Amino acid sequence: MLPAPSSSEAVIAAAANVRADYTVDQGWEGYSAEDHAIWRELFDRQAKLLPGRVVPEFLEGLEFLSVAADGIPDFNRLNELLGKATGWRIVAVPGLVPDEVFFEHLANRRFPATNWIRSRAQLDYLEEPDLFHDVFGHVPLLANPVFADYMQAYGKGGLRASGKGALQYLARLYWYSVEFGLIQTPEGLRIYGAGIVSSKSESIFALESSSPNRILFDLERVMSTRYRIDDFQESYFVIKSFKHLFDSTAQDFAPIYQRLDARADYDPGVLLESDDVLSRGDGSYHR
Ligand code: PHE
Ligand code: FE
Repeated sequence: MLPAPSSSEAVIAAAANVRADYTVDQGWEGYSAEDHAIWRELFDRQAKLLPGRVVPEFLEGLEFLSVAADGIPDFNRLNELLGKATGWRIVAVPGLVPDEVFFEHLANRRFPATNWIRSRAQLDYLEEPDLFHDVFGHVPLLANPVFADYMQAYGKGGLRASGKGALQYLARLYWYSVEFGLIQTPEGLRIYGAGIVSSKSESIFALESSSPNRILFDLERVMSTRYRIDDFQESYFVIKSFKHLFDSTAQDFAPIYQRLDARADYDPGVLLESDDVLSRGDGSYHR
């Protein structure tokens, strides 16, 4: 079996040894000094920026995974810690994997993480997830019991949705929660989405810019809203807590998918009468 097509040479090289479930050996010994230096630079930059901006559970998870501060972590070492906390583990993949393979991993508490890291020219922006995004962005919250359960439930939901033509709805839920979610805390609004947490510029934009809308999370609203993959989000959805996110997604989605099929989708920047708007964006960035 071959992995999903990718332009990265590292991916193509790793493809030679890809297993049926799309996993590969991490190849930790193969990282260059430059690879480790890029990790450290990105890590230090975010570690400085995130206190006061990210949900405290993320920082707790990060501290717990402190092996990652000196360079690209060996997934085996990370897995010993993560396994003890929540039973999750990371498996190395050469790049994006097909939806069903991804869901199957999540449903079994395995998080597929890309085994190559971006180059220095891509420090601030790259088009597909790399090791820094996947590990720094996603792994800390996998050490949180409630979030860990949510991710597994998502995987199981994906396997159920696959035959129903409903994957776009689930993809939007993932995008606006796991990747670009904001959360209310007693200290104020915080980020928790991995796509934000692993990006310096979006960590600032998502919280501080007057441009985007910030809307209270509503399951069906989120699942009807298209998203931008090439730029900052026009709308962010804000959960009340991880428990609330978990509980509001525990219902059977089948009737929801049917309702959504019968209705039009919303554009990323739109506001609705029914929205609980925390801040109305002025749209200045995307205009
Ligand atoms: N409850 C969803 C279903 O019935 C599964 C799910 C849980 C999906 C959590 C996403 C997140 O399919
Ligand atoms: Fe991601």
